[in-house]
Amino acid sequence: MYLFLIVLLILGILFFGYMWFEAGNVELNRVRFAKGSRGLKILHLTDIHIDLLRVKTKKVSKIIMKESPDFILMSGDYISRPSHIPMFLKFLNEIKGNNKIYLCLGNHDYEAFLRDKKDGLQQYMKKVEEAGVTILHDNAEVFEKDNIKYNIIGITDYRRGKHDLDSAFKNCSKDSKINIAFSHNPDIVLEIPRDKVDYLFCGHFHGGQIWMPFDLEFKVLRKEKLCKMGIKRGLHKINGINLYISKGLGNVLFPLRLFSRPEITVYHIN
Ligand SMILES: [Fe+2]
Repeated sequence: MYLFLIVLLILGILFFGYMWFEAGNVELNRVRFAKGSRGLKILHLTDIHIDLLRVKTKKVSKIIMKESPDFILMSGDYISRPSHIPMFLKFLNEIKGNNKIYLCLGNHDYEAFLRDKKDGLQQYMKKVEEAGVTILHDNAEVFEKDNIKYNIIGITDYRRGKHDLDSAFKNCSKDSKINIAFSHNPDIVLEIPRDKVDYLFCGHFHGGQIWMPFDLEFKVLRKEKLCKMGIKRGLHKINGINLYISKGLGNVLFPLRLFSRPEITVYHIN
């Protein structure tokens, strides 16, 4: 009996040890929409969840430096409490360098201020902007490279914020033929009118974070329409839009992952 309990204990330690290890073992996924090496190179970070992040910031900086993207997109979920803000600003500072960063917030960022009676959310966004980051909420900015203009469109979180697609598209430049959007919750793809967006980059699902049999990690924890359609991670074409759902970098509830390694994504676009 004792031997059985000892074996069970060792197996438990090994199992949790592996999940702890996996949560820190980041992978770089490359998605090529362009054939050659020219064109636009975007690096996507999402779901940092700074309080439970297991991936070393130094490792993230090293990957960014090596990839040298044209800009970085960050698609939400950085903090879960106002007290996490200094940690997140430190992270931003360490990865920023000379990189242009476009950012939108995720549901956790909004939920951090649900009980806040003052202007905590505005103060948080102000501090992020002071770190040299451009927040795009239902807004667009033109990024130009090699005389090609790209509309970069940030859409407010589908679940927590009050998104306004008309406002996002109103601010797009007509000189640009390529529209690149980013938002936290990928369910927004089901509301975007056809021909308005070519690429949409999201996070939110964490790839399930901790695998469970019979898709339980999605059935129990997620109410999103895309999950019910079996769309949970990676590249999909929906309504003419190239949608990529990143597994994200950090973790919620526990600093553990199973069969869903943390991810940094690099997109190559014509
Ligand atoms: Fe998240």
